[in-house]
Formats: sequence, C-alpha cells, structure tokens
Amino acid sequence: MAHIVWDEKMSVQVGLMDTQHKKLIEVINDFYSSMGSNNSKEKTLEVIKAMKDYTFFHFNAEEKLMQQNAYPDFEKHKKEHQAFIDKVHDMEERYKSGKLILTLEVASFLKTWLTNHIMQVDKKYGDYLNARGIR
Ligand SMILES: [Fe+2]
Ligand SMILES: [Fe+2]
Repeated sequence: MAHIVWDEKMSVQVGLMDTQHKKLIEVINDFYSSMGSNNSKEKTLEVIKAMKDYTFFHFNAEEKLMQQNAYPDFEKHKKEHQAFIDKVHDMEERYKSGKLILTLEVASFLKTWLTNHIMQVDKKYGDYLNARGIR
C-alpha cells in the first residue's frame, strides 16, 4: 500500500485545517516508512511519539475551532478523535512491552482511519464553518 497523498478532494474548506492535515499525513507516512526499515526500537518509538504528538495537537486545534463555533456535531466528532487516541496509545504501550510487533497492517489501519476521518467526518464541518466566515 502506498503513502497517502493529500489532494483537493481531501480539502475541508478551512485553510488552517488543510495545512494541519497535510502535516498529519506526513507524520503518518513517516511512521509507515519506518515499518520497512530496520530501525531500532528506540527510533521507532520516536516516530510513534512524533505521530502521537502531532495528532493530539491537531485534534485539539480542530476541537477548539468546532467548539468556539458551536458546531452541532462537536461531541460526536470529539468521541471519534478520542477513540483514535486510545487506539494509538494502546498500540504504543503494547509495542513498548513487546506484546505487539508493528506490522504493515498496523500502519495501514492508521492510514485508512485518517483518510476516512478527513473525507467523511472532518469534511462535514466545512460548509458550517464557511457560513461563519471561517475559511
Ligand atoms: Fe477530526
Ligand atoms: Fe482533522
């Protein structure tokens, strides 16, 4: 499976969120690339941490934007973010303790989740925020 490539079809019509999604795609692609290399456990944990940190940063920024604008689906959207955070956290812990071998399936899950989330969940706030002057 190839790397994710951001294109206009993934645009959520809010510039800052598109910029953050591009960066998020980059860190997930880095994680995916690190699967195919014989990185040390330490290096792999660094890549996981970078991915986790940026994901938290983005989810927070996005949630703040939705909340500030009284976005009706805020709670539901936040729950989806939380479920992903829990998954990544669980994956990290299991990898640290040697209970999980990072495979392409693990990386594919993250890539698929992110692509679907942007395309199906994030995109929904575009029109709503645009109508409130946010672009
Ligand atoms: Fe989101
Ligand atoms: Fe997002």
